[in-house]
Amino acid sequence: MMRSFYDVIMTPLENRILSRARKNLVSRARGLVLEIGAGTGANLSHYHFKHIDQLDILDVSLQKQVLGYAYPDHLPVRFIQGQAEALPFSDDLYDYVIITLVLCSVTDLNASLGEVFRVLKPGGTFIFIEHVLPENKFLNHLFQMITPIWKEVAHNCHLNRETLKFIETAGFNTINLYPVHKDIFVGGIAQKPLMVEI
Ligand SMILES: C[S@@+](CC[C@H](N)C(=O)[O-])C[C@H]1O[C@@H](n2cnc3c(N)ncnc32)[C@H](O)[C@@H]1O
Repeated sequence: MMRSFYDVIMTPLENRILSRARKNLVSRARGLVLEIGAGTGANLSHYHFKHIDQLDILDVSLQKQVLGYAYPDHLPVRFIQGQAEALPFSDDLYDYVIITLVLCSVTDLNASLGEVFRVLKPGGTFIFIEHVLPENKFLNHLFQMITPIWKEVAHNCHLNRETLKFIETAGFNTINLYPVHKDIFVGGIAQKPLMVEI
């Protein structure tokens, strides 16, 4: 199978940094699970399907690699074309929502996080791995500087987006961070409160 441009440029990061984080975080998913922005399916081999009742995979564009991925026959996997900003699901539905390396490129980050929160069951879990704007001055300037060009070649990926700050104000009651790579990538497990104040 031909590898996509994205997979080729991500391979060194994937091997050195990301796959361990995926293994540790994505493998926690249980019950009814939604993955948003699956791309070429980098997370699929990290799910423990014996703990999953149904996996819904939503992306703006479903790629061949994901559609062709082998998963256990008995497992209900649904592929849904749609946008993180307007999820076609009812409130309080999912036990887990998984998002990795997607929030940097959504058009409306607040709306997307609001939708994640809405579709999670009370007490449900949001697992994420995202890149953040580095605090290191040199990297920070570099990321700011190359974002206008990078987002054109990397599907609207904003290297300068402060995604973690948005997640921290999205209503989750606990967020446990998982150090993926100091200053560049962060992972986390966020819990929707059991009782949501209206
Ligand atoms: C950089 S890829 C990440 C793929 C994979 N999650 C990973 O960890 O490698 C970003 C994916 O998010 C999808 N995407 C971008 N904006 C989206 C949106 N607003 N709603 C749903 N999916 C979106 C893209 O189509 C792409 O497949």
